[in-house]
Amino acid sequence: MTRAVVPPDLKGEKPAAGVKVNLYEDVAARLSRLIDQGAYKTGDRLPSVRALNKQLKVSVSTVMEAYRVMEDRGRIEVRPQSGYYVKPPLTRLSEPNISAPVCEPMPVSSEFFLSRLWRDSLNPKLLNLGAATPNPELLPLDKLSRMLASVVRSDNSLGSTYDQPPGCAPLRVQIVRRMIQAGCTLTPDQIVTTSGCQEAVSLCLRAVCRPGDTVAVESPIFYGILQAIESLGLQALEIPTHPRDGISIEALKNAVSQNRVSACLVMSNFSNPLGSCISDANKKSLVALLERRQIPLIEDDIYGELYFGSERPRVAKSFDKTGNVLLCSSFSKTIAPGYRVGWVAPGKYQAQIERLKMANNLAVALPTQMAIAKFLENGGYDHHLRRIRRIYERQVAAMSEAINRHFPQETKVTRPTGGYVLWIELPAGTDSLQLYQTAIKAGITIAPGTVFTAQPKYRNCIRLNAAFWSEKVDHALEVLGKMVLSLKK
Ligand SMILES: Cc1ncc(COP(=O)(O)O)c(C=O)c1O
Repeated sequence: MTRAVVPPDLKGEKPAAGVKVNLYEDVAARLSRLIDQGAYKTGDRLPSVRALNKQLKVSVSTVMEAYRVMEDRGRIEVRPQSGYYVKPPLTRLSEPNISAPVCEPMPVSSEFFLSRLWRDSLNPKLLNLGAATPNPELLPLDKLSRMLASVVRSDNSLGSTYDQPPGCAPLRVQIVRRMIQAGCTLTPDQIVTTSGCQEAVSLCLRAVCRPGDTVAVESPIFYGILQAIESLGLQALEIPTHPRDGISIEALKNAVSQNRVSACLVMSNFSNPLGSCISDANKKSLVALLERRQIPLIEDDIYGELYFGSERPRVAKSFDKTGNVLLCSSFSKTIAPGYRVGWVAPGKYQAQIERLKMANNLAVALPTQMAIAKFLENGGYDHHLRRIRRIYERQVAAMSEAINRHFPQETKVTRPTGGYVLWIELPAGTDSLQLYQTAIKAGITIAPGTVFTAQPKYRNCIRLNAAFWSEKVDHALEVLGKMVLSLKK
């Protein structure tokens, strides 16, 4: 079936007022929406480049770029001499349902298994699909090394002096400039630099909780956060979380009305492991709910810059009028995890965080902070991000498609719109810990679902890292798919 007219809603629709998007991204987003809404079905021909050029009053190259982006995303295919056609959906597999943890505070006892998972995932002899590390080939390491050399050469004292909280001023200036895109107006004195996002989150928990207190979190949740909760003697209250929309605000509202909760911790954009992204409306409601209840919100936005769409999603902090939100992030996923540079905008907890940072380890190393500051200032960070976003998006699509090909039909997989991890629900009864052991023998690491909760849950789930893609990874997924079939009860 072919259809190549431009529907009226495509002609009329404009980007929201005040929203700055690339024109080709806007055209791609509008066409994709029409496909999602069923105006164009699998196999339909899309309007020609000339037709769109005339109807939308955009240049031929803009339309071609929009079609190229859609092709990269696996939405359409080009048929030579014929035109652009809608491809079948990337996966026949459905999405996992909203999670259903027991909504009660529980102590966390992180398994001994975690250190094994970490050690195996960093073993260069194994194929790492387990840890959520970025692909080193997609990090600007050469440029950064040159910048590091240049900053220490030009100022010897960087190696002889201590920094002190709130941390390196030029870096804090760059951070606040970047956060404007996330809807946040901060000043450099509202930032404290930290050794990665992990330290930022731990300091926040220490600032707002006392041992024995309860922290409301998404479920499943990044195991590093569970470790931080455990090390501080806190309890985790896991809240149902949707694989696309994030934490359920309704469930959280109920949980905080029935339990004494000292903090709520969320990964607002492209969470680990679900890849969920909380809508602006829900971010606003979340901030308002916690503000009303005087419960501090710790927001981890470490994947926020890795969006696949046309706009950087806002942070919940952008809705914060009272300083109740403590926003944490780092450059580990986009620039260099080994530099250990992160930060927190602690709102009204600024003084406590500065004091705790000093008590913890005085300050972050100055040379790495300066090198990152220099890279942000004139290393082409935006260009770098545009490139890696596109690659990660393609790889996430390629991995989903490979799971679709190789895994049993009952498998469910998330559809993240940013970041680079996939959460996979294997057929009921599949034991991901057993899969882990079998996969290791084949030289592959995965992250079993059990490490993403304090409860006896997610045993039939795994998280995979899509930061790496090659024929070898495709083959590894084929091997994993066969293992899953053989483990299936
Ligand atoms: C959600 C989340 N928060 C924090 C961290 C830790 O970040 P960093 O390496 O900057 O300490 C990670 C690392 O994987 C993460 O996925």
